[in-house]
Amino acid sequence: MAYLDIRDLNVYYGGIHALRSVDMRVEKGEIVAVIGANGAGKSTLMRSIAGDQKYKGAIVFDGAQLPRDSHLVVTKGISLVPEGRRIFPGLSVLENLWIGAYARKDKARIAEDMEEIFTLFPRLKERVKQMGGSLSGGEQQMLAVSRALIANPRLLLLDEPTLGLAPIVIDELFEKLIEINRAKNLPIVMVEQNAYAALEISHRAYVLATGEVVMEGGSAELLEKDDIVESYLGTKADGD
Ligand SMILES: Nc1ncnc2c1ncn2[C@@H]1O[C@H](COP(=O)(O)OP(=O)(O)OP(=O)(O)O)[C@@H](O)[C@H]1O
Ligand SMILES: [Mg+2]
Repeated sequence: MAYLDIRDLNVYYGGIHALRSVDMRVEKGEIVAVIGANGAGKSTLMRSIAGDQKYKGAIVFDGAQLPRDSHLVVTKGISLVPEGRRIFPGLSVLENLWIGAYARKDKARIAEDMEEIFTLFPRLKERVKQMGGSLSGGEQQMLAVSRALIANPRLLLLDEPTLGLAPIVIDELFEKLIEINRAKNLPIVMVEQNAYAALEISHRAYVLATGEVVMEGGSAELLEKDDIVESYLGTKADGD
């Protein structure tokens, strides 16, 4: 069984069948991309894993069915950076980070991990006292990722971490994510609008279309079938 093993996942919003028998697996150390058009069900999938969504089916993590409650899922070592960042704008950078650490039992190690995060994102260290809401878009995204990391997760879920960011900031964020993935062997599931960027940094990928997995495979392999991938995205991808 895979580290994260999703079987026959179904989500209904009233009459809308938003996820249709989705199967997905993630192994330790993998970066897995989830791509698909607007409304394909990507966020619904991420929220289901994170315990923020009612679903039918099985989501097994490290051998045990995940609880269906986000507060409990965090204690199992899964952190979600939701779509739209959702940092606390009226709290400082440091306060935002402490909130991320609330579920940890090993409080003594938090300060040490905080330093590690500041090494990764020195811009946040320079701004520990600044209000979250006054950070730039890229800095807020770094804070959102850092807040997820300070929980010391065993699986990191990112829902469109690059939305609204300038290309140079996107490159920087992707570099950091690869660094985190390699240094900690931390598996990452990433929803990404830019299919090319997603396939370039991930090991494997799933393409969702109207709630169904329509393609899956090694990212390099999917990059070679980019015309088919594009046909599922609704918009033409812009990379070469
Ligand atoms: N709370 C809700 N109530 C009713 N319908 C919902 C709800 N949340 C999502 N949906 C519908 O479910 C479908 C999947 O939505 P979801 O947000 O998962 O898509 P997505 O792939 O993340 O899209 P996007 O790329 O725009 O973020 C959409 O048709 C959406 O309108
Ligand atoms: Mg979404």
